[in-house]
Amino acid sequence: MAVSGNLLERLNASSTPYVDPLAALQWEHVATDAWWLPPEALSLAGVAAFERLPERARRRLSHHEFALVLETGLWLESLFMERFARASGAEPDPLLRARYLHEVREEAGHSLMFLELLGRSGVRIPAPAQPRSALATTVGRLLPFRGAVFWTLTVIGEELGDSLTRMIPRSVEQATVSAVVYHMARLHAREEARHIAHTRAACAEAVRRMPGWRRAALSPLIGLAFSGFADRLYYPQRAVYLAAGLPGEVDWRALARANPVRRRCVAQAAAPTLDFLRGLGWSVRLAG
Ligand SMILES: [Fe+2]
Ligand SMILES: [Fe+2]
Repeated sequence: MAVSGNLLERLNASSTPYVDPLAALQWEHVATDAWWLPPEALSLAGVAAFERLPERARRRLSHHEFALVLETGLWLESLFMERFARASGAEPDPLLRARYLHEVREEAGHSLMFLELLGRSGVRIPAPAQPRSALATTVGRLLPFRGAVFWTLTVIGEELGDSLTRMIPRSVEQATVSAVVYHMARLHAREEARHIAHTRAACAEAVRRMPGWRRAALSPLIGLAFSGFADRLYYPQRAVYLAAGLPGEVDWRALARANPVRRRCVAQAAAPTLDFLRGLGWSVRLAG
């Protein structure tokens, strides 16, 4: 494992005292009359047909696009928790076991706060519009825990999955974002920064260990996983727009995919992950 004992000790120490998100957030303030993602982080930001709609309708899309991020998080975190729980049982090094268990506890806290927001608000994403796939779930369960492919997919899931949420604390519009969502995003970003530091270190070590011919052979598959996941995450399916109450006669997904504001936002959100993976020799890009 690439993470030195010293860094692990620091990572473990910074996981305490543990903050329980269910206790820390003020759930009575869940508001659907506020934005959940900053307006500029929506897939239809700047699209004339969308900007003409009343603010209430545009805010409702922010609830559904944020809910899509949360549903993605619920799926990925359930896989991470499964893998880290299994790994901690098989790991002889007590520091690493503790790290894995800290991560299980933190991901459980995240998933519980995602569920709480969805449950209290009643905002739902229809199952077929969620980015989870049975194939990816099976692959995520079966890949060897110490392998380069497992850690590379974990980097993709962890970093892209959270990249839109990370725009909330940075947004100039933060005063307009719902307070519960804002605190949720900050808490998640802080803990994920730690997870990502560990995941990147493990990924870099595993990729460097792998023979060059193997990396070249697997690179197209990693490229497909990256662009396919990014497309489903950043460009919602039609059912998401319908669930948000947008008029059904417009092809909103096509408008989002052609939207230059969105393409810039996605390029910015995905850039750190693209740079990191390319630096390791993976050939990855966003779909054209
Ligand atoms: Fe998380
Ligand atoms: Fe995480």
